[in-house]
Amino acid sequence: MSNATSQKLTELAKRRGYFFQSSSAYGGVGGFYTFGPQGAALKGNVEDAWRDRFAIGEGHMEIDAPTIMPEPVFEASGHLEIFDDMLVECPECGESHRADHVVEDNTEYEDAESLPIPEVEEIIAEYELVCPNCGAGLAGTAIEDFNLMFATNIGPGDAQPGYLRPETAQGIFVEFPRLKEYARNTLPFGVTQIGRAYRNEISPRRSIIRTREFTQAELELFVDPETSEPDLTLVEDVSVRLYPAAEQQADDGEVLETTIGEAVADGTIADPWIAYFLGIAQEWYASVGVDADRFRYRQHLAGERSHYASDCWDAESEIDGNWIEIAGFAHRGDYDLSKHQQHSEERFTVFRQYDEPKTVERAVVDPDMSYLGPEFGGDAQAVVDELEALAARDRTAFDDESVEVELDGETHEIPVGKTGFAVEEQTEAGEHVVPHVVEPSFGVDRLVYTVLHHAYREDEVDGEERTYLELEPEVAPTFVGVFPLQSDDGLESEAEEIAAALRAEGLSVTYDDSGNIGRRYRRQDEVGTPFCVTVDYESLEDGGVTVRERDTTEQKRLPIEDLPETLSALRSGEAAFEDLEGGTSE
Ligand code: GAP
Repeated sequence: MSNATSQKLTELAKRRGYFFQSSSAYGGVGGFYTFGPQGAALKGNVEDAWRDRFAIGEGHMEIDAPTIMPEPVFEASGHLEIFDDMLVECPECGESHRADHVVEDNTEYEDAESLPIPEVEEIIAEYELVCPNCGAGLAGTAIEDFNLMFATNIGPGDAQPGYLRPETAQGIFVEFPRLKEYARNTLPFGVTQIGRAYRNEISPRRSIIRTREFTQAELELFVDPETSEPDLTLVEDVSVRLYPAAEQQADDGEVLETTIGEAVADGTIADPWIAYFLGIAQEWYASVGVDADRFRYRQHLAGERSHYASDCWDAESEIDGNWIEIAGFAHRGDYDLSKHQQHSEERFTVFRQYDEPKTVERAVVDPDMSYLGPEFGGDAQAVVDELEALAARDRTAFDDESVEVELDGETHEIPVGKTGFAVEEQTEAGEHVVPHVVEPSFGVDRLVYTVLHHAYREDEVDGEERTYLELEPEVAPTFVGVFPLQSDDGLESEAEEIAAALRAEGLSVTYDDSGNIGRRYRRQDEVGTPFCVTVDYESLEDGGVTVRERDTTEQKRLPIEDLPETLSALRSGEAAFEDLEGGTSE
């Protein structure tokens, strides 16, 4: 499909209420979009389908955390320090651009994000790259790191800075000490969240693909790195297209057509949990309407990985010949929980019970407080804490006559005899371990865009050009349109009754009595409504209606009384339109 598809889709999205730029009455601002009635319904259906598969289907918990969090959370997570993009500001017009995008759009470099800033500056100079806005040369312009966090103040004044979360994940990590209790301290367990995330993108672009406020659906799976394992037999036969880092770096590198089972066996996918999630996501993406021929998994190159990830694969969909990241599957190790444990007062561990209790040697202290009290006053307890930590860390520190303790940057010598240092044998039932995190992180907006793009079709019906969206019934915003053939009290009340009966069955129905029937079909085709029901004069006599299928435009005469059941079966996939008994209708 050409770039024209994106343009037509954006136009259709605005006209038919899928999505459009927000606050346009005030000129709008880049990177913010409103999902209209159709778009909100499609997005909601995609989210429900995700919840069914990744939360309920996998037996995980779902939470709903605030989008604003206090500063210490993001000091701990590392986002304030290193969640940056490369900013280059045009010396002529002052427009800001992502330097890596300027390079990727105008050279053969595909992954400039993973390059260090000096190298990107060199490439800009070497290729004499120019400002995409005004055409002025960018060579020699310094590139800066720009932090993507949106800052705010919590309460009046600026005493308590807060930030809009850049990923829903942090809302899960900070609650780990409580969540592990709900999971009865048993690994593995997963927690999901569907919600907004915010990034102050330097140059939001391509409509809802890169925005400043977007929705993520994330699953944080907490695993024991030594004992937790997925059941790979569930996904081993799933076919996938993989683009591993090694293939990306090879001159003749290619996308591998393989199965999850083979990719694990030959080491292409090193981590079994990532393999598991790539397998279930492959099938799920197809179920919501992502075209498998325009979909692949690409492994991150080492320099491209986020600060927390030890391995990462992206799900990518093809849009207008470009590959767009629509999800990331990262192994975050113990990075997040360890950081939050270091920065907070809480324990971000679970207790791993040994098969048999173990006898171990432990270095302990039992300090003489009649010595420490007068010597350190109010700091005496802090000295005890330091001595305990030192004994656990390095028992040789107690080999000499005195031991050194650091307190507020000052070193103090304490006679070992006053520390009560001893090595004792203890019996332990288990140990506290920091779980590792495996994270499938889905971008909902990019998925909605992909689903629309991959569903976009043009054909000719009765000599007229037609545009329609071949959306999967499970996600289509409206499942059935109900029309009275003409403006007539009898037909209208019958059609309204049918619409009510279908709504009572839980189906999403649009009732439309405006314009001729052909125009009503075109309207529903354009928003992707799979079926339309037309009530005509014969309906009042024979109790039948015309049901039209969107993709083939084929029509069948079906009994009104069976409609709720028949259409429900069509929506769930238990029935297929071509197999339905019923006279054909013109
Ligand atoms: N917790 C991990 C995480 O946030 P990410 O790769 O930065 O990982 C996950 O984001 C997904 O969120 C991406 O694959 C993408 O689909 C979506 N996403 C990220 N930034 C986005 C943006 N500015 N606009 C729309 N979607 C975005």
